[in-house]
Amino acid sequence: VSKLKAAVVGLGIGHAHCAAYLDSEHAELAAVCDVWPGRLESVGGTFSQGSMRELRGLYPAGLEDKRWRDIGVRTYSRLNDLLADPEIRLVSVCTPDHLHAEQACRVLEAGKHLLLEKPLALDMAGAEAIGRAVEKSGKTFSVDYEFRLNPAVMKLRELVSGGFTGPVEALSVHHFRTPFKRDKYRHWIQKQVFSGGLIVEETSHWLDLARYISGLEVDSVSCRTAAGIHADFDYEDIAYLQGEFAGGGIWQISHALSGFAFSLNICVHGRRGTAWCALKENPRSLLDGKQTSYCGIVSWGEAGAPAEQVQTLTYGEEATEPYTIRAYARHFAACAAGEEEPRVSFNDARLALELSLAARRAAAAGATVDNVAAGDTARKEPR
Ligand SMILES: NC(=O)c1ccc[n+]([C@@H]2O[C@H](COP(=O)([O-])OP(=O)(O)OC[C@H]3O[C@@H](n4cnc5c(N)ncnc54)[C@H](O)[C@@H]3O)[C@@H](O)[C@H]2O)c1
Repeated sequence: VSKLKAAVVGLGIGHAHCAAYLDSEHAELAAVCDVWPGRLESVGGTFSQGSMRELRGLYPAGLEDKRWRDIGVRTYSRLNDLLADPEIRLVSVCTPDHLHAEQACRVLEAGKHLLLEKPLALDMAGAEAIGRAVEKSGKTFSVDYEFRLNPAVMKLRELVSGGFTGPVEALSVHHFRTPFKRDKYRHWIQKQVFSGGLIVEETSHWLDLARYISGLEVDSVSCRTAAGIHADFDYEDIAYLQGEFAGGGIWQISHALSGFAFSLNICVHGRRGTAWCALKENPRSLLDGKQTSYCGIVSWGEAGAPAEQVQTLTYGEEATEPYTIRAYARHFAACAAGEEEPRVSFNDARLALELSLAARRAAAAGATVDNVAAGDTARKEPR
């Protein structure tokens, strides 16, 4: 069976997609596209400019010094030229957030399968335009909310869906991290108009996980933010969100860009049991005195169980972001080949955006937004 010829647009995190298509059963990397000449020069062009060095480990040794053409990959500086290539069947769009809606529609209209980096778009009009283009094209489509393929997150989800915890009474996500990198293309991530701000740009991951892990829809959201810690970002540094699930259960997300290492903790409480997950970026983290050798851990115990009955599993680098993004792109290639179903549907990505925008409105109004899952955003009086 011949492999699908794939292209990656945007060579920042796009490198994790390139690494996937360079080593996939279903796809092969045929082209890359970027407007930043330095990044098109050599495979490692992005790394020599500072950012994304952590992605180097995804490539076989010696590859980063090669030119793209030396490894048989065509380069394009304009998306339209790439889309005119009939051999390209699958495209990963990994450009700044404000370009997603327009570029996604062009890729789908050109008849290519599309893996789009998150977020889907920056507003619902952009989201709906992509939805129409997906429907019209009939092509395979997904958005890279890759935490759904993180092995520790999948274990947590299995503990919930398999009944270990019982129905979800409460779910929390606490994320502590360093500020976003400051060497993005034209500093797009530091401006709300280009990135959607903290909530659309990244809290949308945790809203997606709240739905994914609980199997429930979010019904209401309130939100408070703190700003001004990193003055070169024109939006909040910290967001605290909470609300209820439709049909019962409460949820809470705390998300801070003012940390000094990466930590993501997710906890699910039910009447039968509790399941907990913690992820780190490095096995030896500042946050545990460099004492541990794992990157992810899941622990679970029955309600009231003595400590010795709590079970634990740990995970290595496969539970870190670069590896899970590569895994998600490989999964997408299998989907485009008709072998798997996308783990993140258009509707999942639409809801992640809709909930994020509702949280932003709730923060601006100091009010709770109700019936968010239904898309009906009636507002309660401020509390
Ligand atoms: N799934 C995840 O966990 C995850 C992680 C990191 C980034 N992302 C997403 O990936 C996207 C890119 O982020 P990044 O951190 O790599 O940013 P970046 O600025 O490092 O890279 C973006 C690249 O796109 C290129 N580009 C800009 N305009 C272009 C155009 N018109 N045509 C072709 N190329 C163009 C830039 O030159 C740059 O090389 C964003 O949407 C971001 O939200 C997702």
